[in-house]
Amino acid sequence: MNTIKSQFPIFENNPDLIYLDNSASAQKPKQVIDALTDYYSKYYSNINRGTYDLSIKSSQLVDDSRKSIQEFINAKYAEEIIFTRGTTDSINKLSLLLFFNGIIKENDYIYITEFEHHSNILPWQNIVKMTGAKIQKIPLNEFGEIQLDKFEEMIKKTGAKIVSFTGLSNVIGTIQDIKSVIEISKKYNALTAVDVAQLICHSKIDVQALDCDFISFSMHKLYGPTGVGVLYGKKELLERYSPVDFGGDMIKSATFSSCELAELPEKFEAGTINIADIIASKSAIDFVSNFGYENIQKIENELIKYSFEKISDLEKSIGKIQIIGYGKEHPEKRSGLISFVLTGISSFDIGNLLGNDKICVRTGFHCAEPLHQSICEGKPSIRISFGLYNDKEDIDKFFASLQKNIQRLI
Ligand code: ALA
Repeated sequence: MNTIKSQFPIFENNPDLIYLDNSASAQKPKQVIDALTDYYSKYYSNINRGTYDLSIKSSQLVDDSRKSIQEFINAKYAEEIIFTRGTTDSINKLSLLLFFNGIIKENDYIYITEFEHHSNILPWQNIVKMTGAKIQKIPLNEFGEIQLDKFEEMIKKTGAKIVSFTGLSNVIGTIQDIKSVIEISKKYNALTAVDVAQLICHSKIDVQALDCDFISFSMHKLYGPTGVGVLYGKKELLERYSPVDFGGDMIKSATFSSCELAELPEKFEAGTINIADIIASKSAIDFVSNFGYENIQKIENELIKYSFEKISDLEKSIGKIQIIGYGKEHPEKRSGLISFVLTGISSFDIGNLLGNDKICVRTGFHCAEPLHQSICEGKPSIRISFGLYNDKEDIDKFFASLQKNIQRLI
């Protein structure tokens, strides 16, 4: 076992495991698991409500976690970090905030791409239903890159209330020029929201350098616990909006007929939040920070190149494979994953057979059906996605099993 895997107990307990489904969720290092056990064993209580030591300690640990995330994405203020249940929850919350606060109204334009995860399409469809606003497709090329000139032409004509797009698609894996998209959007007074659920696992996010209004991500893809998401929003915007969830811990005072809202971030965190997982999220942030994005990219970029070599070998026996996005000529234009289509072979069957060999990959539409409809005639794909613990041996085993199982199915 490589030394990185040895920091992840799952590999010790499952020595044959080949885990290449990191875009769906990443495995957890021991320090994250220990942080959870430690917290539940030594400090657990509810937060912001108790006058006793355990509650004061728990509240402090949540504040520490928020601060570590603030520093990690270089947000200006800790209160710009709103804890949610995950990326999906963050984008839903954002869309509802814009609806209930009257920002998006009838005939307004919402710009999204066709290559979004469903979580960045369906919440906006819902807003369209409620308001009569319109969704406009941000123009892309076949590799999923936003066509900046065309995009500017369109937004100049229509205006937009929000431009919401992924920094790195969970299917196509193309690196996007986020900064330019944000600059153009701002020129036409649109709010900007970037889904960095995938991107933040591979590249440093600096919200001040990007100057985006909102970003969303989940801790479980970033080697942290499940059930914790982040909605970052610029303080001056969040301060202006009323919340969409109401209940305990989000007010200063309440009468039977009205309430005075708490300050940020509590205003947006009604009820008991996911205290333990939020606290353990700090360990995941520390883990990734210590490991370093440079090292993550070095490992993953090598695996991308190596996988393309193996795909070329496989093509010698089964014929041309359709790669979604940039192919072997431009490995530097993608990050973290490769998806491809095996025509005439059921993705469900191949996924099952790979699973029998203890190989974990995702097959199907990866919660991005419109992308598959637009780019590969609605055919499902197979996706291998890399984490910092993967190595060439994982790739060898995946392709050996894939080749063997394709022979069984054709
Ligand atoms: N968004 C996750 C994926 O792409 C679940 O698999």
